[in-house]
Amino acid sequence: MNEPAANPHVPRPLLEARGISKSFPGVRALDDVQITVHPGRLNALLGENGAGKSTLMNILAGVFPPDAGEILLAGQPVRFKNPRAAQQAGIAIIFQELNLVPGLTIAENIFLGREPRTASGLLDAARMNREAAALLAEVELDADPRTPVGQLRVGAQQVVEIARALSLQARVIIMDEPTSAITRHEVAVLFRLIRQLKARGAGVIYITHKLDELKEIADDLTVFRDGRFIAARTFAGTSREEMVRLMVGRDLTDLFPKTSTPGTAERLRVQRLSLRHPGRPGDFLVRDVSFSVHAGEVLGLFGLMGAGRTELLQAIFGLHPRHATGEVWLDGRAVSPGSPRAAIAAGLALAPEDRQREGLVLSHSVAENATLACLAKICRYGLLQPAREQELVGGYVERLRIRTPTLRQAVRNLSGGNQQKVVLAKWLATEPRVLLLDEPTRGIDINAKKEIYTLVDELARAGLSVVMVSSELPEILAMSDRILVMATGGLTAEFGRGAATEEAIMQAALPAGKN
Ligand SMILES: Nc1ncnc2c1ncn2[C@@H]1O[C@H](COP(=O)(O)OP(=O)(O)OP(=O)(O)O)[C@@H](O)[C@H]1O
Ligand SMILES: [Mg+2]
Repeated sequence: MNEPAANPHVPRPLLEARGISKSFPGVRALDDVQITVHPGRLNALLGENGAGKSTLMNILAGVFPPDAGEILLAGQPVRFKNPRAAQQAGIAIIFQELNLVPGLTIAENIFLGREPRTASGLLDAARMNREAAALLAEVELDADPRTPVGQLRVGAQQVVEIARALSLQARVIIMDEPTSAITRHEVAVLFRLIRQLKARGAGVIYITHKLDELKEIADDLTVFRDGRFIAARTFAGTSREEMVRLMVGRDLTDLFPKTSTPGTAERLRVQRLSLRHPGRPGDFLVRDVSFSVHAGEVLGLFGLMGAGRTELLQAIFGLHPRHATGEVWLDGRAVSPGSPRAAIAAGLALAPEDRQREGLVLSHSVAENATLACLAKICRYGLLQPAREQELVGGYVERLRIRTPTLRQAVRNLSGGNQQKVVLAKWLATEPRVLLLDEPTRGIDINAKKEIYTLVDELARAGLSVVMVSSELPEILAMSDRILVMATGGLTAEFGRGAATEEAIMQAALPAGKN
């Protein structure tokens, strides 16, 4: 499929990849794909989970070579032996799965492998920290460059990756889902930086599942499906419907299939729950939160990043025994505090936000991960029943469209979005009575999002209660029976279905200064 060049009036492409193919054992990740990046323009690479986007980015960044195909940089064929070679040629990448060394400081990570040296060849730490501080100022990250990266929240780590990519002064910058974990303010900063990069003639490849953010930054579009090139277009001439059709291969109607209505019985009651800050005495991550959820109810929990939503779910689930106070009741019975095991036994499940750190054992298979929390159901007389496992896990793989060659594939080898789906499968398989979902659709493609919404709706109809934390206002508005809003650790508003608007929710989510 050879489409005309995106724009005939632009100068020679900065970067062209043609005929690129790549296979992994059991998976043809890329099959004869192409992408072209022009100076001063941003090319948004779109496609479903597992379409091959990150694989192509890894090839362009020298992480591994393609099986076939060629890469031209400013018209010259190039072959990168390793990431350093790509970097030296002027290609910088912000990886989807963050790639920093947790034990090193921010400055050490930014300058890893190219640390400033004194005349006598020694590490010039003062200069390194000074230059890192200037970069942090540019990306507006309020942190000391000597802070170990492992102490930063995921979003801040993402900003450090952005600072590192900027410091390379690259001609081509690849961003693989850079906004998946950063705050609204950080997104605004990133978009300002992208405009600056374009103004100085750099080219950007930008991967995202958040189509709404493209209108601020995108010039061109490239779409892959199942490892194949589908189309190259200009952004301005392409409607949202068409983007979805190109990605999914068909029209996608009714993204939010809400049909459930809540019952009257109280299922979950959270009473005066507080969570002390582990490091700052007198400070609270969650303060005095009380609410209840009915059987079959979908409760949306909205807040800006840092509002305490994740911490609230974790405290309900018993993950902070030493710092939490308050009570959790399930069907009229107190859940013994401070123990996830007791929470699971009582019928609670928490699908966490940070899949790499909390959700998965990456070296284990899809089947092992998906059944980790529900072994009783697939074991008999202490022995694993493969047929049951196959039926249970196979069902979720199909339902959530998890793209994997077999159930035995190591989760590490799945694409980012498909890993997230395994986390969901794992907790759905426990058949809980209350499901706590923390950003369930982060990094998930639009088609699988619809599948997840449908599943949540079906589960709610069957009487399951759902508490869904999300930063995506449209999904909160469409899927919730009721919406609670949090800011700086406390509840600030409650809206019934239909009574909420985006403006009112945002208003309640903004921190009201110090209380
Ligand atoms: N190291 C690997 N070993 C085996 N299979 C792999 C490996 N890396 C990627 N794959 C497979 O290649 C395919 C493409 O994966 P890729 O990560 O490029 O998808 P993606 O488009 O970035 O998806 P997402 O939107 O979920 O991030 C997937 O089926 C994935 O499981
Ligand atoms: Mg990816």
